[in-house]
Amino acid sequence: HGHGDAGRLPFTPITPVDRTVDALTVPAGYTWSPIIRWGDPLFADSPAFDLQHQTAAAQKRQFGYNNDYTDILVDHGNGRTGLLVCNQEYVNPGIMFPATSDPAQQATNRAVARAAHGMSVVELTRRRKGRPWDYTVGGRRNRRIDADTTFAFDGPAAGSALLRTVEHADGTTTRGTIGNCSGGTTPWGTVLSGEENFNGYFRTPGTSAEDKRYGLKDAPSTYGWEADEQRWDTRNTGYENASNHFGWIVEIDPQNPTSTPVKHTAMGRFKHEGANVRVDGEGRVVAYMGDDEKFDYLYKFVSRRRVSKNRAENLTLLSEGDLFVAKFRGDSAASEIDGTGKLPTDGAFDGSGMWLPLVVGGRSMVSGMSVEEVLVHTRLAADQVGATKMDRCEDVQPSLMTGRVYVACTNNSDRGAAGKAGPDEANPRTANRDGHIVEISDTGNRAAATTFRWNLLLVCGDPAKNAATYFAGFPKDKVSPISCPDNVAFDSVGNLWISTDGAPSTIGYNDGLFKVTIEGRDRGRVQQFLSVPTEAETCGPVIHDRDGMVYVAVQHPGEEGTFADQHSLFPDYVRPGTTPRAGQVAAPRPSVVQVHRR
Ligand code: FEO
Ligand code: CA
Ligand code: CA
Ligand code: CA
Repeated sequence: HGHGDAGRLPFTPITPVDRTVDALTVPAGYTWSPIIRWGDPLFADSPAFDLQHQTAAAQKRQFGYNNDYTDILVDHGNGRTGLLVCNQEYVNPGIMFPATSDPAQQATNRAVARAAHGMSVVELTRRRKGRPWDYTVGGRRNRRIDADTTFAFDGPAAGSALLRTVEHADGTTTRGTIGNCSGGTTPWGTVLSGEENFNGYFRTPGTSAEDKRYGLKDAPSTYGWEADEQRWDTRNTGYENASNHFGWIVEIDPQNPTSTPVKHTAMGRFKHEGANVRVDGEGRVVAYMGDDEKFDYLYKFVSRRRVSKNRAENLTLLSEGDLFVAKFRGDSAASEIDGTGKLPTDGAFDGSGMWLPLVVGGRSMVSGMSVEEVLVHTRLAADQVGATKMDRCEDVQPSLMTGRVYVACTNNSDRGAAGKAGPDEANPRTANRDGHIVEISDTGNRAAATTFRWNLLLVCGDPAKNAATYFAGFPKDKVSPISCPDNVAFDSVGNLWISTDGAPSTIGYNDGLFKVTIEGRDRGRVQQFLSVPTEAETCGPVIHDRDGMVYVAVQHPGEEGTFADQHSLFPDYVRPGTTPRAGQVAAPRPSVVQVHRR
C-alpha cells in the first residue's frame, strides 16, 4: 500500500445502490450494527422507548432525532472506553408520531420534538480495539442538550443590546440549540457544532433587512412552536431579538457533563454548517466555516491567543479573534467559464483568493456597522465587502497532514438563473445539481494568512451520464459516481472521506460515503464505501482506519413516508404485522452506525 492508502480499511467499492432500497450497504468483508438509535435510553432513569406514547420528559432522557455531526472520542489508555458525541439537527414529525387532530396531542408532539433536538454525549465500551462498541446507559459523562438547555454567550457580542430579550435581559445567556448540523472536534477535545437552519423555527415581522437576509418570515414556523413559547415569534413584545440567539457556533466540553455550553459570538452568525479547527506552526488557531445557503459565503476565524498546554485556557480560545470572509478569483478568462463545467484551457478551475476582514483586533472593518452588528448580522457585513457567492458551503475541513482546506459545495440549482449570480471559476456550473469540492491553501500555511491559492478537486456527478464532471484528472471510468457532497472527514493517512446528501434526486442512487485519494498518482480517485437506506442522508462520518472502523450517522431515513406508511424501517427492520423484539419498533430510527471487518 502506497501513500494515501488506508491500509487497515481495504475495500472494493460497492456498486451504487438504487434510491428505493431500504438497506445499509457496506463493502464485502464488512458488517454493521447501530451503536445507538433515536429513543434509546441514556440514563438510569430513562424510560424505554415507547413509539406510540412519546413524552417530552422521556425524550429528554433518550437519544434524539436526525443525527448529523458525529465523533467517537476514544479515551486515553487501553482504547476500550470512549465517548460518542452527536448532533440532533431537526425532526420529521410526519413519521415520528401517529397522525392526530387532537390539540393536546399535537402540543405533546411539539414538546417531544423540542426535546429530540440538540446534542447527545454517550459513554461507550468495547472488548478491544477494532471491535464494535456498546453504549453505556447511565454513563458518568452521558448528557442530553436540547432546546431548553442553558447556554452562555461569549465574545464581543455577548451582552449586546441585540441579544437581550425579556427572558434573557442581560443578553449573556440563552436557552437551547437547534438546527445543529455539522461540526468539528477541537485539538483540546471539545466539540463545535453549527446552528444552521434556525430561521424556519421562527415567526417574525419579516420586514427588516436583517430578517429578509436570514430568511426570517411572517409565516407560521415549520413546527409551530410559537403556539407553546413566545420566544419563537419575534413579533411578541420583549422577544424582538429572540432569533438572534440562534445561528451560532456552539462549543461543548463532552468530558464535563455539568459544564455550561457556549455560543461563540466572535465566530459570527449565519446558517453555520459547522466549524473545523487547525493549529498552525505558530500555535495560532484557525476555524473554517461555511454558510449553507445558495450564494452564501465561506468564512474563517483566527484566534487572538495561541494554543496552550493548559486545557482550561484553550476552552476560551474561540472567544476572541479575527473574522474573515473569502473572495475567490479565477485565473482563466471569464469567457472560458461558460457554465457547462468544461475545463478552461489551462486545464484547471483554479486561482487565487483573499480573506476579506470583517473584524480585526476587536474593531469592525465594515463601514457603518459596529463589531456587535457585524457579528450578529454577519451576512450583511459580508455582502458589503464583496465576498464570493458560493454554491452552498457545507462542511469545511483542513487536513491536519497538509494544512490544505477542503470545502464541500453541495449544489446550487439557481446558479446562473435569471436575476442570480452566474458561473465563476470557483462555482463553474450553471444549475449546479451535483456540487463540487474546493481545495484551498492558505499562503505559507499560516492561520492568519489573508491570501490563498485554490483549485477544484472534484466537480461531482455521475461521469457515465454527465460530461461536466472532473476528478482531478483521474480516469472517469474508474470512479464511483458522487453527488451533493456534505460532511467530510480525513483518515489517518490523509485521504478525504465525503458523505453525501441529495444523490437520490440527482443521480438516482441512495446517499453514501466515499473515500477520495488526494495525494499522489491516484489523486481524484473516488471509491464508494457504503450506502444508506432510502430517503436518508449520510452524516458523521468518522474514519478510524487504524482501528479498522468507520462510523456514520444515518439521518432522516424514510423521511418522505408517513407514520402509517413508512418508507424505511431502518435499523430495526421490524416487519409490519410481526411482534417486535425488545427495544425494536416498526418505524425508521435515525441512528449512529459502526462498520467494521467481519
Ligand atoms: Fe444541515 Fe447544510 O446541511
Ligand atoms: Ca484556471
Ligand atoms: Ca450538512
Ligand atoms: Ca445535510
